[in-house]
Amino acid sequence: MSARWLDHFGLDDAPFSKEIEAAELWVPSSRQAVVDDLVDGCEERGHVLLTGEPGVGKTCILRALQSRLPDAGFRLTYCHNATLGRRDFYRQLCLALGLSPKATAAGVFFEVSSHVQQLGHERIHPVFLLDEAHLLHQDVLDHLHILANYEWDSRALLSLLLVGLPEMHDRMHLRRNRSLWSRIHTRLHLGEATPEDTAEYVGYRLERVSGKQDTFSSDALALLHEASGGRLRDIDRIATGALKRAARRKLKKVDRQLVQDVVGAD
Ligand SMILES: Nc1ncnc2c1ncn2[C@@H]1O[C@H](COP(=O)(O)OP(=O)(O)O)[C@@H](O)[C@H]1O
Ligand SMILES: [Mg+2]
Repeated sequence: MSARWLDHFGLDDAPFSKEIEAAELWVPSSRQAVVDDLVDGCEERGHVLLTGEPGVGKTCILRALQSRLPDAGFRLTYCHNATLGRRDFYRQLCLALGLSPKATAAGVFFEVSSHVQQLGHERIHPVFLLDEAHLLHQDVLDHLHILANYEWDSRALLSLLLVGLPEMHDRMHLRRNRSLWSRIHTRLHLGEATPEDTAEYVGYRLERVSGKQDTFSSDALALLHEASGGRLRDIDRIATGALKRAARRKLKKVDRQLVQDVVGAD
C-alpha cells in the first residue's frame, strides 16, 4: 500500500527518495563533465580527489562512475567506513577485496599488494573509492601515500579516489601530506546546483514517477533553491515536505507558501 500523499499526486514512488537506480541518476552536462574527469583519472591510473559540501551529490557521482567504467579492466572497491584506525582500515580493504584479513598491518599490506599485483598481471586496474575521506585518520593517510606510491613495471598498481568535504584541502595542504597530495593529479570539485539546475532536478525527479514535471510553481522553485542552497539532499527533504503538506490540503500544485511552511518549520 502506498502512502496517501503519493496517491494524491498519482505517484508510483516517492519522487525524492535516495533509493534511485544508478542508471536513473540525474546527470546534466555539468555533472557529466565531473564523471568524465573521474573516468579519465581511472583510465590514466592516476589518483583523484573529489570534494563538495554535504548533500551536493558526491556519492551519487561515484555510483554514476561505477556504471560508466567498463567491468573488464577495472575492479572498484568501495570503502565506506573512513573512521577506522590503520589496522582496521587494512582489514576492511582485505575484506572488500575478498582476501583473508591478517593480524598485522605489515601482513595485510603484503596481502593487498600481492593481490593488486596479481590483478595487474590480469590487466585489471583496482580503484579504491574512499568516501567521507575527510574522516580518515592521519596514520591511514600516511599509509595511503605508500599505497599510492606502489608501482609495478613503472605503472601505478591502483588508483585512489578520495571523496570528501572541502576541508580535505586543508588536510592535503599540511606539510605531512604533501607527498600524497603531489600524487593526486585529478582534483575535482562538485558544486551546489544553480537555480536552473534546481528546477531541472526537481522536474527530472517528478517526471520519473509521475510523467509530470510542473507540480512546483516557479516561485516555489526559487524559494526551494534559496532555502536548500542548491544541495540536493536538502532539496529532497524540503520538496518532499512541501508535497506532503500540499496533499494534506488537497492541493495539486505546490506554491511558494507551502515551501515557506516547510522551511519555516525547520
Ligand atoms: N545525480 C543525482 N541524481 C539523482 N539524485 C541525486 C543525485 N545526486 C544526489 N542526489 C540526491 O541527493 C542525495 C544526496 O546525495 P549524495 O550523493 O549522498 O550527497 P553527498 O555524498 O555529496 O553528501 C541523494 O540521496 C539523492 O537523493
Ligand atoms: Mg556522500
